[in-house]
Amino acid sequence: EVPVLTVDGPGGAGKGTVSRLIAERLGWHLLDSGALYRLTALAALKHGLALDDEAALATCAETLDVRFVACDGETRIELEGRDVSGDIRTEEVGNVASQVASLPRVRDALLTRQRDFRDMPGLVADGRDMGTVVFPHAPLKVYLTASAEERARRRHEQLLSAGRDATLTSLLDEIKARDARDMQRAVAPLKPADDAVLLDSTSLAIPDVVECIERLLSA
Ligand code: C5P
Repeated sequence: EVPVLTVDGPGGAGKGTVSRLIAERLGWHLLDSGALYRLTALAALKHGLALDDEAALATCAETLDVRFVACDGETRIELEGRDVSGDIRTEEVGNVASQVASLPRVRDALLTRQRDFRDMPGLVADGRDMGTVVFPHAPLKVYLTASAEERARRRHEQLLSAGRDATLTSLLDEIKARDARDMQRAVAPLKPADDAVLLDSTSLAIPDVVECIERLLSA
């Protein structure tokens, strides 16, 4: 049995960074499930698919030609042979991702692909429904949150250091809209699994969160 650690929670709570650090420390595989939804969104935009054409979007998700290439501590993500690591991180793609993620057939199409990441010696799975739907039997499930204000502040800092600009209020509005869509959708809504450990990172630094999860893993 391959051990799986699931890390779910709203966008901007630090799941991505924390999951990557823990996977590195343990030498485990990493599933960035949000990237799969973002890739589906990007492919749909590229091929001009209508965002309400569920059948076409599901086929798009199922036939996604994607490669995760590990190179010096980073993972390069390729779609149809092209490096899209930066392209999938824009707010626009994130918003389209959260729209296509509300379609049950798209989620179904990505299910096997996500489970295929499970391999020895272990897997850290980062997303919204890792503990509730994709890996319901995972022995350790973490639900990582932070206040919307703090998540907006972190996103703002990230954008500024990337030389981009956005107002804190517009980011806060986007974060709240995305939370609402992720939590209120009919399929796989964002919520902690019944057996998840809740962690609030509002006033915790990344290394503290990592340490806390490592302590849970070895307990
Ligand atoms: O985590 P990230 O911001 O990359 O995810 C983009 C979008 O994909 C989320 O807003 C969410 O709607 C969707 N998603 C999902 N289930 C997952 C991961 C992401 O619905 N397991």
